[in-house]
Amino acid sequence: MEQLNHENHKGQFGSRFGFMMAAIGSAVGLGNLWGFPYKMGANGGFAFLLLYLVLVVFVGFVIMLTELALGRKTGKGVVGAYESLSKKYAFIGWMEAIAPWLILSFYSMLGGYCIKYALSNLGDLFGASWGIGGMDSGEFFGEFTTNMVQTVIFSLIFVILTVIIVRGGVSGGIEKFSAVAMPALFILLVIVIIRSVTLPGASEGLAFMFKPDWSAFEGTGWIKVLSVAGGQMFFSLSLGMAIMIAYGSYLPKDQNLENSALVIPFADTLVAIMAGLATMPAVFASGFQPGQGPGLLFITLQTVFNSMGGFGPLFGFFFYSLVFIAAITSSIALLEGIAAVAMDKAIEKGKKPNRKKIVTILGISIAITASLVSLDGLGANGFPQFFGQSTWLDAIDLIAEGILMPLGACYCAIVIPTSWVNEEATLNGAQFRTKTFYDFCIKFIAPVMMVMVLLGQMDSFFGLGMFS
Ligand code: PHE
Repeated sequence: MEQLNHENHKGQFGSRFGFMMAAIGSAVGLGNLWGFPYKMGANGGFAFLLLYLVLVVFVGFVIMLTELALGRKTGKGVVGAYESLSKKYAFIGWMEAIAPWLILSFYSMLGGYCIKYALSNLGDLFGASWGIGGMDSGEFFGEFTTNMVQTVIFSLIFVILTVIIVRGGVSGGIEKFSAVAMPALFILLVIVIIRSVTLPGASEGLAFMFKPDWSAFEGTGWIKVLSVAGGQMFFSLSLGMAIMIAYGSYLPKDQNLENSALVIPFADTLVAIMAGLATMPAVFASGFQPGQGPGLLFITLQTVFNSMGGFGPLFGFFFYSLVFIAAITSSIALLEGIAAVAMDKAIEKGKKPNRKKIVTILGISIAITASLVSLDGLGANGFPQFFGQSTWLDAIDLIAEGILMPLGACYCAIVIPTSWVNEEATLNGAQFRTKTFYDFCIKFIAPVMMVMVLLGQMDSFFGLGMFS
């Protein structure tokens, strides 16, 4: 791919497979594993899935295509990309650049939790003293999350790993890692699914997830379902967040954009459904009630592994390793999204960007914020809380996922000229088969949906109950 290596010195994806793995890796994250299965089950089951798919096609696909096109056309990270359109849009770029930085602070903490849990299950497998040792999962979780030294250390390990990969560059670090990690994640997921769906009583979990419940749509219920599905889709596809723009800017011009914008959401949704097959049957088979978030991942599921007998720790190790992979392929994307902005700034000043130095400095800033969020111990350590939330994670998530992301994507749908997207989608004589569909959705459906997502997020974060 040497001949494609462009003037910007930031790097480029070397193969289509590598790009797809990196982009799918950014999309597949904690959102798929701890959010989607529960949201689907609690909001209409199969009916939710249908609506979700409609949203993915009408909104996810079009915003994904727009962001990839914007990145590739300008060759810039999010701030430079919006600036290329007009100086007055720089603020959209900055908004989208702050969000990943915020998200990294709690994503790193959670990534650290995954490392701790993978190691603890491994410890149990060998009967080591650093395992869980039959301790109650809730107690184990509480003890760990309030152990400030340990949580900070594990968060820092996660940040350091993220920094090492991103320092390696686009093809030498991100792509190389994702091309191995994502297939590994897939295999681990299949192994855990096979165990989960063959447990006695697993069918109840399948019914929870898949049984269509149209009553969820009754009255104004459909608005709530729509906003839950919209918010989930949006976070899960890593949209409105600098990432797909940066990744698009590293994509060689001979790659078909339309195709990528279809495959990434498809793969992301597939993994989300598979995550449900891996978790929900096991939860129900063990007689627990499903939930979402850290409680599902680190308490309920650990209890499930504890109750599996001899092979429990092995499946626990597999499971937390796969969650770790999902988290780190998202965190490297988040870091690259902001690193691209800093590299652009250096280039603007006429300098050759020093990737390693930029990534290290950003990494240090994230190490600080991640340590702070870890100290909060998910609200258990008695620190003051903000914006009516019960943990620092939630407060930061409110700003990033609740406000900055949907606003960013809404602006993206409104300000990016469709001619730019058309130009990128038809390079090298490619046919833009969905052009009419795209033009319609980006003008009418996506902006309306984004506003609904924004309202829905506000509603759920502040518990207003507007849509219930
Ligand atoms: N898509 C990731 C997930 O589902 C989260 C994420 C959001 C990653 C935004 C990068 C950017 O967990």
